[in-house]
Amino acid sequence: MLTSRQLFLKHQAQTSDFPLMMEIEKAEGVYMYGANGEKYLDLISGIGVSNVGHRHPHVLKAIQEQLDKYLHLMVYGEFVQTPQVKLAEALSKTLPENLSISYFVNSGSEAVEGAMKLAKKYTGRTELISCHNAYHGSTQGSWSLTGSENFKRAYRPLLPDVNHIWFNSFEDLERITTRTAAVFVETVQGEAGLRTSENNWLQAVRERCTQTGTLLVLDEIQCGFGRTGTFWAFEQFGIVPDILLCAKGMGGGMPIGAFIASEEIMGVFKSNPILGHMTTFGGHPVSCAASLATLEVIQQENLLAGVASKAELFKEKLQHPAIKQIRNCGLMMAAEMESFEILKPVIDQAILDGVLTDWFLFCDNSMRIAPPLTISETEIKAACEIILNAINKVLQ
Ligand SMILES: Cc1ncc(COP(=O)(O)O)c(C=O)c1O
Repeated sequence: MLTSRQLFLKHQAQTSDFPLMMEIEKAEGVYMYGANGEKYLDLISGIGVSNVGHRHPHVLKAIQEQLDKYLHLMVYGEFVQTPQVKLAEALSKTLPENLSISYFVNSGSEAVEGAMKLAKKYTGRTELISCHNAYHGSTQGSWSLTGSENFKRAYRPLLPDVNHIWFNSFEDLERITTRTAAVFVETVQGEAGLRTSENNWLQAVRERCTQTGTLLVLDEIQCGFGRTGTFWAFEQFGIVPDILLCAKGMGGGMPIGAFIASEEIMGVFKSNPILGHMTTFGGHPVSCAASLATLEVIQQENLLAGVASKAELFKEKLQHPAIKQIRNCGLMMAAEMESFEILKPVIDQAILDGVLTDWFLFCDNSMRIAPPLTISETEIKAACEIILNAINKVLQ
């Protein structure tokens, strides 16, 4: 009989020749437990998903209660389903007045796709702009927005009329014109290796979009839902988008995404032609129940209040000559080292020693650190010690 590892390689599609191949039997809080008694402290939260930790009891309870009521009933947008309604209302309460309508989908990429269509329909324009080194997803449309020609080349032709500007370039803002339907920006760039707006650049993007009648779409799929220390990252940058995207951390471990806009903008899906965007499973009741519970955990456990000091503790503890710089926005952090050739063995060693980290898609010299927001000070200190020891072992 083949082992699970053998079956994984034989029957599951692979996307690289070096999958992590960790086999997890159980996960709880900030820990994941391996099949042979291994215990890993999860410093990446399934890439920005487990913001409230793995299997948070309040999230599990909400899932269990919904399981007893109903699963899928009907395609999106026809029936009044309490978990969807409650979540949409709760989201609107966390947001400025213009972001009052949520369209629920299954993933981040789908939220991006929906927003691309919405912006084109609302403005009647065709050009879409995003940033170099941005990651917006892997479907054809979201892949078109993704800012790495290296990753995209093999899949062309992708969407026409998609152009890229550099994050933090004021000069490039002139390329946003009255032809531009929407500018897609990650409020905090994730896969670029953690880049934040400098010199009020995001405010300048907002102003330029307003001047040209272009919609500003903020992708908070990775940085939203508390990750940066405010519920939405844009709260820290003094701007409000026309369309907001979220997913990942939103579901507390369940698949869900959303694009959120005003009644006026979202209204264009209703006519000429009707059914402007459709999904069978979008806003699955179990995912919506889990998402509402996740939002409640963030609020009721006051998780946002601890984010800044926890990030500072990481920075204080991760002092090592091999760590050149630590960039962060809340608990979305990147520890930069000399090169991938040094970083990769450190990551591998840390896994062996019980701490899971990662690097970034478009920044392979920096260690990704994005633990559940529930991580304790003791756990942070333990994790940092393991990372520092791993660096010393690799460099000795
Ligand atoms: C900023 C951002 N946008 C979009 C996506 C795509 O989300 P998904 O993988 O759920 O399709 C991701 C995923 O990493 C992301 O980080």
